[in-house]
Parts: sequence; structure tokens; C-alpha cells
Amino acid sequence: MEKTLALIKPDAVQRNIIGMIIAMIENDGFVIKKMKLMKMSEELAKKFYAVHDGKEFFNKLITYMTSGDIVALVLEKENAILSYRKLIGSTDPKTADDNTIRKLYAIDKSFNSVHGSDSAINAKNEISIIFGN
Ligand code: RTP
Ligand code: MG
Repeated sequence: MEKTLALIKPDAVQRNIIGMIIAMIENDGFVIKKMKLMKMSEELAKKFYAVHDGKEFFNKLITYMTSGDIVALVLEKENAILSYRKLIGSTDPKTADDNTIRKLYAIDKSFNSVHGSDSAINAKNEISIIFGN
């Protein structure tokens, strides 16, 4: 069964909507295999989002992701990676499909409440960055 890495980002944790987001995840058939509340260090955030290093939004992204607690989850389902990306919706809530997590809860394109791995290689990598091997 496929696994993916999900994060509930600081804007969502701060607004007390961890439970609403996890309910959507469970209702969509995902099984939670690992879960922790944590705060990303600057070093960890830079490693996690290394692919965006150098982009104009990189510093803002690192400041945001280290601004408060996050919840990290390993989720399991058939086609978990694609299925979870579908559940969260597009990066910008303005263009996200109805009934996606970002459409319902994201503030804007930058502060968008959740993360999901976008490929098998990145899922494996991100799970080991957050939870170890
Ligand atoms: P994620 O990696 O967090 O699941 O989001 P994503 O694939 O949908 O989007 P990505 O392009 O990977 O961007 C990573 C995160 O950076 C922030 N961002 N801000 N123009 C902006 O202000 C901007 N663009 C991206 C978002 O938090 C986005 O999720
Ligand atoms: Mg991404």
C-alpha cells in the first residue's frame, strides 16, 4: 500500500482546525500510520523545501513554516500520493476544487494550511526527513 507525507501547516494549527483536517483525511479513506506535533527548525524547513531554494517566495516560506507548530502525518491508501494531492487541492485556494482542504481552509497561496508529497521519490524522502528511516 502506498504512503505519503502530509503536513498540517502553522496557519491551520494556530486556527484550531487540526481535527477538521484530520476528519477530512480519514473520511477520504486514508489510514494514519504515524503522526506528531512538532516545530520545524530553520534547518529542517530549508532541507524539506530545498527544491524551492532561490525562488522569490523561499524566505517567506521558511519564515511561515517555522512560525509555529505543525502536525506531520504518514498516510496510507491505494494511490495515496495522487489521492492526497487531489484531496488538498491546488496550491492557491482561489483555483482549488470545491470540497478540497485548501478550498475550505487555506488563507491564500502562501499560507495554504497543508502539504502533500508530489511523487513517490519525494514521499520517501520527506517521510525520512521528518520521521527518520
Ligand atoms: P506543498 O509543497 O506545500 O504541498 O505545496 P505545493 O506542492 O502545492 O506548492 P509548491 O509549489 O511546492 O510550493 C510550496 C509552498 O510554498 C508556498 N508558496 N508560496 N507565491 C507564493 O507566495 C508561494 N508559492 C508557493 C506555499 O505554502 C506552497 O504550498
Ligand atoms: Mg510542493
